[in-house]
Amino acid sequence: MDELWTSLRRTQVLNIIGLLGVLVLLNTNGVESRKRAHDLVSFQYPAISCRAHSASLEDFGGVGDGTTSNTKAFKAAIDHLSQFATVGGSQLYIPPGKWLTGSFNLTSHFTLYLHKDAVLLGSQDESEWPLIEPLPSYGRGRDNAEGGRYSSLIFGTNLTDVVITGDNGTIDGQGEPWWTKFRAKQLKYTRPYLIEILYSENVQISSLTLIKSPSWNIHPTYCSNVIIQGITILAPVTSPNTDGINPDSCTNTRIEDCYIVSGDDCVAVKSGWDEYGISFGMPTKQLVIRRLTCISPFSAVIALGSEMSGGIEDVRAEDITAIHSESGVRIKSAVGRGGFVKDIYVRGMTLKTMKWVFWMTGNYGDHPDNKYDPKALPVIQNINYRDIVAENVTMAAKLEGIPGDKFSEICISNATIGLSAKPKKLQWDCTDVEGISSGVTPKPCEVLPDQGPEKIKQCNFPEDSLPIDNLKLRTCYYKK
Ligand SMILES: *[C@@H]1O[C@H](CO)[C@@H](O)[C@H](O)[C@H]1NC(C)=O
Ligand SMILES: *[C@@H]1O[C@H](CO)[C@@H](O)[C@H](O)[C@H]1NC(C)=O
Ligand SMILES: *[C@@H]1O[C@H](CO)[C@@H](O)[C@H](O)[C@H]1NC(C)=O
Ligand SMILES: *[C@@H]1O[C@H](CO)[C@@H](O)[C@H](O)[C@H]1NC(C)=O
Ligand SMILES: *[C@@H]1O[C@H](CO)[C@@H](O)[C@H](O)[C@H]1NC(C)=O
Repeated sequence: MDELWTSLRRTQVLNIIGLLGVLVLLNTNGVESRKRAHDLVSFQYPAISCRAHSASLEDFGGVGDGTTSNTKAFKAAIDHLSQFATVGGSQLYIPPGKWLTGSFNLTSHFTLYLHKDAVLLGSQDESEWPLIEPLPSYGRGRDNAEGGRYSSLIFGTNLTDVVITGDNGTIDGQGEPWWTKFRAKQLKYTRPYLIEILYSENVQISSLTLIKSPSWNIHPTYCSNVIIQGITILAPVTSPNTDGINPDSCTNTRIEDCYIVSGDDCVAVKSGWDEYGISFGMPTKQLVIRRLTCISPFSAVIALGSEMSGGIEDVRAEDITAIHSESGVRIKSAVGRGGFVKDIYVRGMTLKTMKWVFWMTGNYGDHPDNKYDPKALPVIQNINYRDIVAENVTMAAKLEGIPGDKFSEICISNATIGLSAKPKKLQWDCTDVEGISSGVTPKPCEVLPDQGPEKIKQCNFPEDSLPIDNLKLRTCYYKK
């Protein structure tokens, strides 16, 4: 009996030990899985293409403490990931943290994804920004005639299929020292931009917040098939040349759902500068801008130019809101620019507190050098504005063409402009322009004769869609 009991007890004890063991194991598993759950990152996002390979900046020695430079980690990560370009592409995840970095280069079939609490901090050490050549269509840097220009924080050239996105993560250019040195004329080279992509196709920049750029924010140049969506851009309204989005010599671009507060034009459509832009000869065309909200007290909501020497054509802007901005859609050009701005369609603008609703400038000046051809006159033609409501406006319009080179086929219809407490006495100042109007108050200048109220819908807006609107986004996944 005793032996039986002993044996039973032993079995029980063993069972209990076994049970404890299982419990311990279960417990360890619990800790493990909790730890793994913490490390496990997974999310989804819309993009033009999804990627087969993933990595995190931390896998390449990245440190998100706000003071360690990650320039080498970015380079190592993207150099490594570039090998997957032909086998499904790759995505680089930037976790929560403050990631200080200098300029780095993107690769093809690649996605850079910023977590919502990730902040890329632009280095304030100039040696972290390599110098690159001026753009051929500009002939020199935009700030300085001297030498080259600093490469943008995020730079890419000759790429195909590149995505910069996030869950509204932040790119902070920490631009103050650049602005100060620029104002004091202490910079030998042109300031860097936040994002510049050259000679590329299938480009997406979306769901990000860009703050305090040293200069322009987003500059796609010589690109086609570009989507810029859900971008917030914030810069002090007195910061120098902090343009929001500048499509430059690009074909088939869609800019939508962006909110921009800046020290220069919210969107500036460009295509090269004087003799350099004329000889490069690459226009910006097939551009859609929709659902843009802008605050820019000293500049335009949308500028066409002033660098427009390669030409700007087929621009469609709609659902534009602006508060406290200098002007609505402004055309800027000059003798010597050559090129053209034609087939421009604007529909639906709600504007509050503006200096001018309509502004065209034929004598903008601002030449790269004195080698420009004084006979190179821009062609400004077929410019359409309709369905505009503005309030608290100082002056309705200042439309100045070029003597001997009239800005022609201007159409303005269905525009109601409410004036400020101290409006200009002359509301429409028109020289060297011609066109028509209908349903516009206050009454336009005589060179835009009123066609009668039945022509209130006369200004064109194309009903067909541009190819970029057929480019659909897919739902992509990241798991690690
Ligand atoms: C990026 O690429 C450009 C053009 O190839 C090059 O000049 C520049 O030095 C590169 N930048 C970095 C940070 O490697
Ligand atoms: C990029 O493409 C342009 C235009 O095709 C070409 O002139 C240039 O040499 C290319 N640059 C690089 C770095 O491949
Ligand atoms: C993104 O972040 C900015 C800055 O914090 C904020 O103003 C904006 O509303 C956010 N946008 C979205 C879509 O969450
Ligand atoms: C109207 O515009 C002026 C500047 O011209 C501004 O100071 C004032 O606050 C604006 N009023 C309203 C009601 O927005
Ligand atoms: C005039 O413009 C307003 C504001 O966009 C719009 O609501 C209205 O329908 C337009 N009228 C016509 C006749 O198109």
